[in-house]
This record gives sequence, C-alpha cells and structure tokens, in this order.
Amino acid sequence: MEVLERIDAVQKRCEDLRLSGKTLGFVPTMGFLHEGHLELMRIAKRHADVVIVSIFVNPAQFGPAEDFDRYPRDTEGDLEKARSVGVDIVFLPSVPEIYPDGYQTKVSVDRLTKHLCGVSRPGHFDGVTTVVAKLFNITKTHIAVFGQKDYQQLTVISRMVRDLNMDLDIVGVPTFREPDGLAMSSRNAYLDPEQRRSALSLKKSLDLARHLLEKGERRAEEVKKAVEGLILSHPHTAIDYVTLCDPVTLEDVETLEAETLLALAVKVGNTRLIDNCLLGGASKNEDIPKQKGQRE
Ligand code: PAJ
Repeated sequence: MEVLERIDAVQKRCEDLRLSGKTLGFVPTMGFLHEGHLELMRIAKRHADVVIVSIFVNPAQFGPAEDFDRYPRDTEGDLEKARSVGVDIVFLPSVPEIYPDGYQTKVSVDRLTKHLCGVSRPGHFDGVTTVVAKLFNITKTHIAVFGQKDYQQLTVISRMVRDLNMDLDIVGVPTFREPDGLAMSSRNAYLDPEQRRSALSLKKSLDLARHLLEKGERRAEEVKKAVEGLILSHPHTAIDYVTLCDPVTLEDVETLEAETLLALAVKVGNTRLIDNCLLGGASKNEDIPKQKGQRE
C-alpha cells in the first residue's frame, strides 16, 4: 500500500494508472476508520482495479463551534485497517496542501443544502462539495463510494457530479451498523456508556416509524411526534431535527404516500449523531442508484 502526502504525487500516480488501463475507485474519508468505512473500501475494490482512500479532516466543513480540533484521529491505526482490506493508495494530505495560502474557490450546491443538516450547519455542505470536487480532480477516479448514512451528503454530491458534468460514477452504500443497531460513526467514540445506550434511540425510532407505517399511519406529523417522543424518553438527548421528506428533493412531506426519507439529527450529550431510513413507497430513490451506474 502506497501512502502519499502530496497532490502532485497522487495526480501523477493516478494518471499513470489510468493510462495503463486500470479502473480507479475512490473512498474519501476523514479517518478514524470503522467497519462502515472499510465496507465502502471493500465495495470500491469490487468495482475497480485500484482503490484509493483519502484521509483528511476537512476544516472547511466544520463550523466555528464544531469539533474540528477534537475530531478523533488515529493515522497509524487507519493505515493498518486500510491495508487489511486491500487498499492500494492512501492520500494523506496536510491542511495547507489542500488549502494553500491564497485559496479562495468554493463549490456550492443550492437547494438541496438548504434542508436537514444544512439548517443547523450553515456552510457545511459547501465545505464538503469543495473538498470532494478537489479530491475528484486529484484522483481522477472512475468511481467514488459514499455511505447512505450521510444521505444528504450522498444526494448533494450526486447532484454536483451531474450538474458539473464530472466524469465519474457515484456508488451509494447502505448504512453499516453495530450489532445492536447503532449506525457506525467516528463520533461514536465521544459517547460514554450511558450516552451510548441513549444513542440507540435513533435506530429504535426508525424502527418505530416503520412499524407505524406498516400499521397504516400515513400522517407525517404523527410519525414525527412518535419518533420525537421515543428519542426524548432517553436521557441526554436533544433533537436537532426529525424530518420526513422527499428522498430526491429533500423537501418536507405531509403524507407518506410515495417513498419518504426519515432523517434524524440528535445531540446525545455534546455529540451530534445522524441516522435515516427510507419508508414505504415505490422506490423514487432509484434516482441515486440510476445515476451511479457501474463501470465494467
Ligand atoms: P466520514 O464521516 O469519515 O465518512 C466517510 C464516508 O464513510 C462517507 O461516505 C460516509 O457516508 C461513510 N460512512 C460513515 N459511516 C458509515 C456507516 N455507518 N455505514 C456506511 N457508510 C458510512 O463523510 C465524510 O467523512 C466527509 O464529509 C467527506 C466525504 C470525506 C468529505 O470530507
């Protein structure tokens, strides 16, 4: 496994690989890797000859009061894990390598970023799309793999790729969970044992919503109330949002007729966690798989 820190080195290596006829698969991460990340890498391996992973805690996507400085980091452990799943190249840039003096360009997706996490994290998605666009330019990858755990991120990046005619395919991967259902996240490391138990309320509330839908409930407001009630019955929880929305536009829905995205952001202690699921309906969400395609 090669570990490269410089943009020019990655660009040259990837260009050479492309010219030699290899397909490239890319998994961008912020490190502190867990099984969810490793699953993305395994899937990239299935789609491509060469897998590139970036590990970069991107300051541009953290707000001033957010956890950039204390975001968990473990470079040695990450490299070992990446090696164990057969990653070929790890790109490990410094902050000035990505944002040198004089840097002033931004990539911004408009309406999709006004909903869900975009409300409480203004500027967050501009930081994500900007760094991801740069990473796509650096790796010149054929495919890039993202988790559905960050559903809005996957939607926003798919939109950016389409809108800017970026010549690559996006693959979305279902959320990888702990055995008890908690969605894996680097931020789970912040939770103490009691908070860890409360964090289970996110997955439990998704299951509750599914159950209500099976029983025939179609009113978004009722589902939302039940979900909020369940979450708030657990200690140390505060709701950022519970939203039932269209899985393509991310706009709120009042009734669950077509397929609906239930998306949650909950603070457990000081840790902000997100989770989501698709409820019912014929899969309108095919919009995401459709555009991802797969290169042979
Ligand atoms: P990070 O939170 O490290 O996540 C990297 C990738 O792993 C994302 O595509 C995310 O959706 C996916 N992922 C995280 N937890 C997952 C889980 N439990 N199951 C499946 N996939 C999971 O997302 C980012 O980093 C950054 O915003 C990034 C895209 C790297 C840009 O800086």
